[in-house]
Amino acid sequence: MLGLLKNFVKPYVYRSRLRAEGARMAALDDAAARAVGDAFLKAGCRAFDASEQVLMECVEAQRAKVNARTDTFDQPDYGAGAGAAGGEGRTVQRVVGDFARAASSPQVWASMHFALVRAVQPSLCLELGTCVGIASSYMAAALRLNGAGGQVITLEGAPGAAAVAAANFQDLGFENINIVVGPFQKTLDTVVAEHPGFGFVFIDGHHDEKATWDYFNKIEPALTDGAVVVFDDIAWSDGMRRVWRRLAADPRMAHACDLRHLGVCIYRRPAG
Ligand SMILES: C[S@@+](CC[C@H](N)C(=O)[O-])C[C@H]1O[C@@H](n2cnc3c(N)ncnc32)[C@H](O)[C@@H]1O
Repeated sequence: MLGLLKNFVKPYVYRSRLRAEGARMAALDDAAARAVGDAFLKAGCRAFDASEQVLMECVEAQRAKVNARTDTFDQPDYGAGAGAAGGEGRTVQRVVGDFARAASSPQVWASMHFALVRAVQPSLCLELGTCVGIASSYMAAALRLNGAGGQVITLEGAPGAAAVAAANFQDLGFENINIVVGPFQKTLDTVVAEHPGFGFVFIDGHHDEKATWDYFNKIEPALTDGAVVVFDDIAWSDGMRRVWRRLAADPRMAHACDLRHLGVCIYRRPAG
């Protein structure tokens, strides 16, 4: 029953949402909105071409291998449970496969990231929360097909998870991903200062109201005009619902799409 829900019902619902929001965005009189709408429709209708399909299947095969792992690693808790400061409160031992299954983007959302990176053609992607590297692999695959170089910078606080991700990137042959290990609170400022020009951002860790707001504002100076910023788990808590409403209504966002689990914004740099 749980397998049916996870493997069929949820993906069906998520794809329906992508198609509905995709149709709305694709009808707008704005090229950036149409590009995002087309990407949603592509992911919602699974309308990927053969070269895209092949690369995504490679990542899914790697996901299956990681999901089956029974070895463990130590995870410092920097996340929402640690509050806005995200202090390194306690360390828990995690089974790699359990962690990968619980925390990685499911295939539908990962394919949406892929379609967005294909559509937006960013030079630089930023991810907060690598986990075992599934979403970043999808971004790297899209950048490879875009054919213009491009790099993914992904931040992860748990060295054990980062090591699993690094091994996955190596197995998959992705040399265009750079993992920065350490709490976002300590690494993000330097990453933003050293890598201006993020055209695609996925904020997927430390799902706390204040932390999410602060991370977006730290990243903002390094965003390109028209950058796509994806926020995960926007309905996970009251605080996350509040920060999503605040972000979606912010004048710096030209468009905001509520996909219930995820929020997708198109950023417009304020004039002057
Ligand atoms: C939901 S998982 C990311 C999943 C990944 N984006 C994907 O879709 O494949 C969140 C990750 O963020 C990391 N994380 C959470 N809060 C953090 C923080 N404050 N600093 C650094 N890493 C953090 C966790 O260790 C975890 O690996």
